[in-house]
Amino acid sequence: MIGRLNHVGVAVPSIEDAKATYRDLYGVPESEMTETRELAAQGVKFAFVNVANSQIELIEPLGDASPIRNFLEKNPKGGQHHICFEVADIYAARDEMMRKGATVLNEPRIGAHGTPIIFIHPKNSNGVLIELMETPKGAHA
Ligand code: CO
Repeated sequence: MIGRLNHVGVAVPSIEDAKATYRDLYGVPESEMTETRELAAQGVKFAFVNVANSQIELIEPLGDASPIRNFLEKNPKGGQHHICFEVADIYAARDEMMRKGATVLNEPRIGAHGTPIIFIHPKNSNGVLIELMETPKGAHA
């Protein structure tokens, strides 16, 4: 069974503009936002906005081959891209997904939180792209 909702992924044309929205409209202080970082291997820039019980992951395309580009062409102002649940063991989760016939979109790889992640095709989950991430060691103690 999946664990905590870790974050909601939102694709945006500009992370800095999106941070301003969370700051100015929703009152989130800058201290609750991470620096914007690059994950070049995955063609994205990202930052997290901390809220009381979860995080919003802001994702901006990096490079022409970014997998986020198509999404933003269809959703030019940005939009909700994926939701991420924690799992105890990413390889066990992958095997279970495949055993149940789900389409696992990638081999486990290191994600924005520094732990391995996989994505499950939206067709398996009511149209929602699902990220599964291994719970960081020592989290939620
Ligand atoms: Co994510």
